[in-house]
Amino acid sequence: MNKEKEIEEQKSYINKVKEMNKGKDLKYTILTMGCQLNENDSEKICGMAEEMGYTKTQNQKDADLAIFNTCCVRENAEDKLFGKLGELKKLKEQKGIIIAIGGCMMQEKHIIDKIKESYPFVDIVFGTHTLHKFPEDLYKSIQEKRKIEDVIDIDGEIYEGLPIKRDSNIKASVTIMNGCNNFCSYCIVPYVRGRERSRNPRDIINEVRELAKQGYKEITLLGQNVNSYLRVEKEKNIEFEEYEGVNSFATLLTAINKIDGIERIRFVSPHPKDFTDDVIDAIAKCEKVCKLVHLPLQSGNTKVLKEMNRKYTKEQYLNLVEKMKNRIPNLTLSTDIIVGFPGETDEEFEDTLDVVRKVKFEQVYMFIYSRRVGTPGDKMENQVPDDIKHVRFDKLKSLVESQIEENNKKYIGTIQKVLVEGESKNNKEMLTGRTDSNKVVIFEGNKDLINKIINLEIVSEHMWYLKGKEF
Ligand code: 5AD
Ligand code: SF4
Repeated sequence: MNKEKEIEEQKSYINKVKEMNKGKDLKYTILTMGCQLNENDSEKICGMAEEMGYTKTQNQKDADLAIFNTCCVRENAEDKLFGKLGELKKLKEQKGIIIAIGGCMMQEKHIIDKIKESYPFVDIVFGTHTLHKFPEDLYKSIQEKRKIEDVIDIDGEIYEGLPIKRDSNIKASVTIMNGCNNFCSYCIVPYVRGRERSRNPRDIINEVRELAKQGYKEITLLGQNVNSYLRVEKEKNIEFEEYEGVNSFATLLTAINKIDGIERIRFVSPHPKDFTDDVIDAIAKCEKVCKLVHLPLQSGNTKVLKEMNRKYTKEQYLNLVEKMKNRIPNLTLSTDIIVGFPGETDEEFEDTLDVVRKVKFEQVYMFIYSRRVGTPGDKMENQVPDDIKHVRFDKLKSLVESQIEENNKKYIGTIQKVLVEGESKNNKEMLTGRTDSNKVVIFEGNKDLINKIINLEIVSEHMWYLKGKEF
């Protein structure tokens, strides 16, 4: 079936479920784990659920449908899912709540086996390549009163035109590509998300234009490897239609930069090995592209990087940072780091600390290496003991925190452009927003300022946020 037909078919399932649910005031909950791509997928699941007549609730006990969108990048997500399923068993027995689990973890056979064996009350299991078929799966589960397992192991198509219910009306995520071809040896993503494939330039540009029309100010472009957008298509001669001059990631940034109404553009995650000069130049010259770039390091040691299959050395990473800092005024960087990859010695870990000291990241997302079934890392014999991993993690954390404190001080007395996002969660009297460098700023101000970019003078710093006043 072609893609348009498939989406038409799903829309007809949406209508069928809506008809069945008429007048019933049904509610759903959704628990999203993992990265921003999963959050964006969840917004699509919510869009479909709401069109089928369900309204969102935060209270599990009120729900008629419980949805899980899972992640399998690290082990703790598995513990969380199974803990939650245990809790739901009672609700299933009491009121027959429908339980649907989707996302990355469902692409792993050993997880599906465990669900079938230990949690047989789960109604629907769907994978990353069948998300768009959620309406059909739900319909069949209700109508035919049977368990649905809808997981395929091929690289799914990119489907356009699904309903979407976005979490914010100020900032929006736009997925530009699916999958990953890099096979970093610790990472499960290429196995559960399939090979890289890019969305058409026209679909992306039109989505961003529509978002601008709806009043969105900030766009985050998402993909496992955003700076290789359209690369595979070009290498494999897969036809794509160039639109508004877009034929690469750099030209995509340039085209989105021209869309009126959009004021900020962010993107995650790029890969250092694909950070070509045209992308650096585009960031420098596009005034809407935020000058905070996320540049995952993973390790600062060349031997560990080789074992990780990252395809750059410590020196190449540092040179890239130097080049970017020279060409992009006011550049700040954030990063991802894994500690305790198999075989990592104390000296090799010191190289990671050395890079952190040198680069002075704005933000560091730190992870303890987690063995993932099916990855080369899992088969390596020289696994690092847990206690050593924790010691290294704590060392890295205290270095990062001392750097953040140092860095925060630099903000005091400066004027920052802040996109005001709403009331502060902890103090309704205050508003909250973010700087270009993605720092949270809290300040006193009139609610009319929400969804505007304003100048704030930073008056104090508090580790995870800054305080500002109107300037
Ligand atoms: N263990 C720990 N961290 C991991 N990441 C990916 N796979 C693993 C793993 N097996 C981290 C990487 C990646 C981020 C999204 O998650 O740092 O950039
Ligand atoms: Fe995983 Fe590496 Fe692909 Fe990122 S680039 S998704 S870390 S395999």
